[in-house]
Amino acid sequence: MDKIIIKGGRRLEGRIPISGAKNSALTLLPCALLTDEPLTLRNLPRLADVDGFGHLLNQLGVSTMIEGARPEDFGRVMTLRASRLTSNVAPYDMVRKMRASILVLGPLLARAGEATVSLPGGCAIGNRPIDLHLKALEALGAEIELTAGYVRAIAPQGGLRGGHIHFPVVSVGATENALMASVLAKGETVIDNAAREPEIVDLCRCLVAMGAHIEGIGSEKLIVHGRDRLHGATYRVMPDRIEAGSYACAAAITGGSVDLVGANADDMTAILDVLMQAGATVEVRKDVIHVSATGRLKPVNISTAPYPGFPTDMQAQFMAMLALADGVSVLTETIFENRYMHVPELARMGADIQVTGRSAVVRGVDKLVGAPVMATDLRASMSLILAGLVADGETQVSRIYHLDRGYERLEEKLQAVGADIERIGSD
Ligand code: EPZ
Repeated sequence: MDKIIIKGGRRLEGRIPISGAKNSALTLLPCALLTDEPLTLRNLPRLADVDGFGHLLNQLGVSTMIEGARPEDFGRVMTLRASRLTSNVAPYDMVRKMRASILVLGPLLARAGEATVSLPGGCAIGNRPIDLHLKALEALGAEIELTAGYVRAIAPQGGLRGGHIHFPVVSVGATENALMASVLAKGETVIDNAAREPEIVDLCRCLVAMGAHIEGIGSEKLIVHGRDRLHGATYRVMPDRIEAGSYACAAAITGGSVDLVGANADDMTAILDVLMQAGATVEVRKDVIHVSATGRLKPVNISTAPYPGFPTDMQAQFMAMLALADGVSVLTETIFENRYMHVPELARMGADIQVTGRSAVVRGVDKLVGAPVMATDLRASMSLILAGLVADGETQVSRIYHLDRGYERLEEKLQAVGADIERIGSD
């Protein structure tokens, strides 16, 4: 398995291009199931999860064509076409590798009238149930059966019917499945307490480009007027706010000065606010966010929350950054029950972090020391990279397949702004 080796101590300076958003791409790809016409997605990030999702869609009968991208380009153009579905089963061996596969459930049910998807199971950060996804589909008239590790959903005769969906807990994925199922349902669907993440807005905009009729986009109350059919479209994936936030932390932790090119600051208000509270300088220009820092950062208390609150996907990265702050920070993870897997690894590098329940008390230390560490999940891996960028000596990060799921050509982007970082294949 590959490793990443970092020799810490370099200030990062220069421009980092921000790729298309992983968590938008993974909900835009299954939209291809909703029509027999071509859906072209631009600015798709080159990520393991995007490739994996493409293979799953191929398994269902969707053709996927990557348009010519030069090796040096970031992002790709993919045209997908579900002329005729050849299967409505998403098998265990594919779903277990990528839990976002559950996002074929809603569109498959809407298009084909039935869908069988392996239960995704848990992952490193929590047990990740899908009860809210299933309740939403039942509200549209679907019958749900759970057998032998699979969920089977069947639409009523005549197809799904509009209904009233109320989410007791904000869920990004359940909102996405509800949206993709309701756009072809007969009648009106109201989704209350819908997730408001920018990726949900991106999904709504892509569905509207395909002919869907959705009101309240960006709010917690979405009203979907079902259509008999949707048509093809060409749609550009939004920039990745979590990738941008992660590299903003890299600039801050190294006392650097970096331009995040292509990022959308409007999607990142909570992230940029906390960066400035910690003492970083943030300047927003047209589609470039400039982040710089000098001297030691200040401690900050953070509590994760659904959008527009501070994103859980940035908690691990900020913890690495605050491990060197001049004081004590308290981080509270309210979304997932086990999202502190990075703590013991950061501790190996000298961080002083105490976890009690959902909160982590981070006492800033004067320095971190490079060490061999192990990635456990996607965002935890990034927190180890950030620590390695500033630690004394060499850090070796193993199991970096986690990183490849969410960060396009990470070491190239960091090398280009001065980091001493390389990927080595282990024997
Ligand atoms: C999406 O996961 C993202 N993944 C996650 O990003 C992100 O952390 C999360 O939203 C929260 O913002 C993708 O978009 C592919 P949820 P999702 O449903 O949809 C509970 C990353 O690092 N819940 O909003 O799975 C759940 O257990 C990944 O890029 C239920 O109880 O998250 C959690 O506590 C990690 N029942 C909370 O809701 C359900 O049916 C929020 O989960 C669904 C969720």
